[in-house]
Amino acid sequence: MPTTDRPADARASADRAGSGFAALCADLGLCFGGDYNPEQWPREVWNDDVRLMRRAGVNLVTVGVFSWSRIEPVPGERDFTWLDEVLDLLHENGIAVDLATPTASPPPWLGIRHPETLPVDRDGVRLSAGSRNQFSPASAVYREHALAITRDLAERYARHPSVRMWHVGNEWGQLDHGDEAAREFRLWLRREYATIDALNEAWGTAVWSQRYGSFDEVLPPRRAPYTINPTQSLDFRRYSSDQLLRCYGEQRDAIREAGATQPITTNFMGFFPHADYWSWADAVDVIADDQYPDPGDEHAPADIALVQDLMRSLGGGRPWLLMEQAISAVSWREHNLAKTPQKGRLDSLQAVARGADGICFFQWRQARSGPERFHSAMLPAAGDDSAVFHGVERLGADLRRLRPVVGARVNARVGILFDWPSWWASEEPARPTERLRTIEQVQRWYRVLWRNGVAANVLRPGDDAGDHCVVLVPHSYVIEPGAADALRDAVSGGARLVVGPFSGVADRHGHLLQGRSPALLRDLLGVSGEEWSGLPDGAPLVVDEAWDAAPAVGRTASVLAERLRADGADVLAAFGDGVYAGLPAITRHAFGEGRAWYVGAVVSDELLAAVLTDALRDAGVTNVVGVPPRPEGSLPQGLEAVRRGDHLFLLNHGRHGAELVLPAAMRDLLTDEEFDRAATVAPGAAMVLTERLTT
Ligand code: GAL
Repeated sequence: MPTTDRPADARASADRAGSGFAALCADLGLCFGGDYNPEQWPREVWNDDVRLMRRAGVNLVTVGVFSWSRIEPVPGERDFTWLDEVLDLLHENGIAVDLATPTASPPPWLGIRHPETLPVDRDGVRLSAGSRNQFSPASAVYREHALAITRDLAERYARHPSVRMWHVGNEWGQLDHGDEAAREFRLWLRREYATIDALNEAWGTAVWSQRYGSFDEVLPPRRAPYTINPTQSLDFRRYSSDQLLRCYGEQRDAIREAGATQPITTNFMGFFPHADYWSWADAVDVIADDQYPDPGDEHAPADIALVQDLMRSLGGGRPWLLMEQAISAVSWREHNLAKTPQKGRLDSLQAVARGADGICFFQWRQARSGPERFHSAMLPAAGDDSAVFHGVERLGADLRRLRPVVGARVNARVGILFDWPSWWASEEPARPTERLRTIEQVQRWYRVLWRNGVAANVLRPGDDAGDHCVVLVPHSYVIEPGAADALRDAVSGGARLVVGPFSGVADRHGHLLQGRSPALLRDLLGVSGEEWSGLPDGAPLVVDEAWDAAPAVGRTASVLAERLRADGADVLAAFGDGVYAGLPAITRHAFGEGRAWYVGAVVSDELLAAVLTDALRDAGVTNVVGVPPRPEGSLPQGLEAVRRGDHLFLLNHGRHGAELVLPAAMRDLLTDEEFDRAATVAPGAAMVLTERLTT
């Protein structure tokens, strides 16, 4: 894609910067800090800020994210004097800066003078200023203005000694369905398909008389009388992600061209639906992510662990940066729960356990005005005489103690397949059930690993599964030939594969593959299907008594089932009644040196755990302390255990003390406490254990 191309010299300097985050952490230790918005405060507050930052051990702050209207109050003018002063002050105090291009939130004058810079939603409504993010990534005028201010910023500060990283825009995710977007979408489609006939074929426009005579007739998805063409929607999502990446890339290249050699990045948002982060991953020098799990959600510790494994995987295993999180409550949910300082610490150490070399927050000082006035911050409105700030000081001290962890890798032998276009295609409307949600399924499968202290990498379809001895495909609606081949190669070579329902159904355009399903995996799975049906909750399954891993309870399925036929696979469970009574629901099949399971329905948590632990045990996978996985979990409830390099992280998210038998005599890096055979982790507490050499 031209959108991701970089000039050769920019690429070369980016390669140099690629190691820049490692160099930064080698210098600073684990990064610690947050978004710093001094433009919201009078000058005298800044001295107080840096004094308290130093006290807390803050070593990195992100400056300028929303400062466009402060830098360019009047079109074409620049006021950098305040920023000069801020950067100098931070530098004098030994605090490094992640300098942001302020392009996420244009000043009101841009939309007033150039309404075409404002995005238009599906209903044709043009959005206004007065909030933030009111720009269209398709707008040439927005892009020119954003580039102009980026160039000036980069030229002024590329060599400023405080600037150690660049932050382009913020949480790229804007959509636009307007006329300028229509033009850009058509250009994208021309590059993709070359001819209108190819587009008609790919979109299946013979249905409902949608045939296009030329690219000029094609529109973004807009409000229409009935269901929109699903491939039109799918391609619009691809285009939208690419268009955002193009905007990011333009600003990144402008920073490089100004001579900046620091790493350049932007903040991802986990499983965010409007950007395909597999395609973005190479465009950033360090993977950075914003994470706001709901403290009231019992599944949050496992679900955020999955996001953290995704971030590590996007960077090919390299350390990543937790760019934003909340030290306590957010202010944008309907009902916002605070965290204890201990929970804020636990959440941060969890990210370190899963490969983060930096822990940052939104934001340093709590806003006194505006929509985020009730959002927690490292320095609350109450000031430094507060439990929150004391917690921040403690966290700073903890992170300093964890310096030996910097750069260490998490090794995982289990891979989980996930990609954005398949997620997008699977959730287009008009399908057997709207209750099957890709992310929900990935989370359910991952929780079994989490409860067992089994680390996982997220795999991009088509990637060589490499050293992964177990590959999980919770729900991949689209499986392309290259991805099917990679799965087949992995299983031939001895890997265990578990494939979930409604996988391998469609091609890259979301068109149903012809023949019995999953067309490209039938030989591998030894089972095939011909139809899908929504399933009532709690539909009974009959389990083969010879299947020794079968659970005693929870022999049910819901949401979706398939009319399956075993073509050589062993049937582990069959439907007990209903339209598919007696037909296979869960199968297992030997293939090459490995084995493949197919779960042809959304089975209960108990059954899912049984199948997954069956596959893990079959592959000889044990948890981080050498114990084989169990369906109910092989760790005490609520305890998370991850090995990062030589360090064993134990994080107790539960309500009770958790005792674990250790593989060796160990010492806690956080407290220097020593343990011989076992450690008990108090509720809400964490340990970072390293093997202790006994004499
Ligand atoms: C993020 C955003 C921050 C701040 C934060 C609040 O989405 O990047 O600027 O608004 O949410 O939780």
